[in-house]
Amino acid sequence: MDGKFTAQSFAQAKRKKEKITMLTAYDYSMAKIIDGGGIDAILVGDSLGMVMQGHDSTLEVTMDDMVYHCRCVSRGAKRALVVGDMPFLSYHVSAEEAVRNAGRLIQEGGAGAVKLEGGKIMADTVRAIVRAQIPVMGHIGLTPQSVNVFGGFKVQGREEARAKALIEDALALEEAGVFSIVLEAVPKELAQVITEKVGVPTIGIGAGRCCDGQILVIHDILGMYSDFTPRFVRQYAHLKETITGAVAGYVQDVREQRFPEEKHTFSMDASVLEKL
Ligand code: KIV
Repeated sequence: MDGKFTAQSFAQAKRKKEKITMLTAYDYSMAKIIDGGGIDAILVGDSLGMVMQGHDSTLEVTMDDMVYHCRCVSRGAKRALVVGDMPFLSYHVSAEEAVRNAGRLIQEGGAGAVKLEGGKIMADTVRAIVRAQIPVMGHIGLTPQSVNVFGGFKVQGREEARAKALIEDALALEEAGVFSIVLEAVPKELAQVITEKVGVPTIGIGAGRCCDGQILVIHDILGMYSDFTPRFVRQYAHLKETITGAVAGYVQDVREQRFPEEKHTFSMDASVLEKL
């Protein structure tokens, strides 16, 4: 699709059966590269708590963290829609607080939409944010902010009751006005059923090919995060090895005085030097 990708473009893509492409980014330089690579939407995910901040989960991420990273990414993204993730506790206390925090991601962070985790129980909150004219993306299945309830990062929806509950969650989110729904770590068959039942596009991560689009964490596809690699990730580069090699080369060059070379230096007039 040509031109700026917006929340409306998601619906258009589903109608035309064009797959939607999404990646995460957390800073200006990466956002600019990804945007130039033709991605449709960039999620400033709270996964930054793990890949940027080094925590074991996403629960430590604050609103101020999200606003800061959204602002950096927004400066780099020209065509892609920037979606700001709502961190843990920023939308759970009250709908009023949720609207205010979603508004910060738009007003201060420059995002064009927000994402929040949860199904049916979040429907009223979604409605309140949508009423404030802010496009909302839902997120169900393995929702990392619920890691303590799930007892770990586990596939969701293999059993009948949970699968039915996830279908109801998707329908409730659609009814509440989301423009899209992320399906994370659910069986591919369930993702297909949900994708066929809802009118809004589904974006899969570990949810098979039948979703209307796909999203992955940028550090995972570039091979930069080695603490944990989910089974659903495909690595398109191995930057950890590339960066380690570059650092080792620099260290060796400095120690052995091969860097800097003459061309990397500045010089001053000899007459000035004499007076020093
Ligand atoms: O925070 C994140 O990066 C996400 C995606 C993995 C969907 O929520």
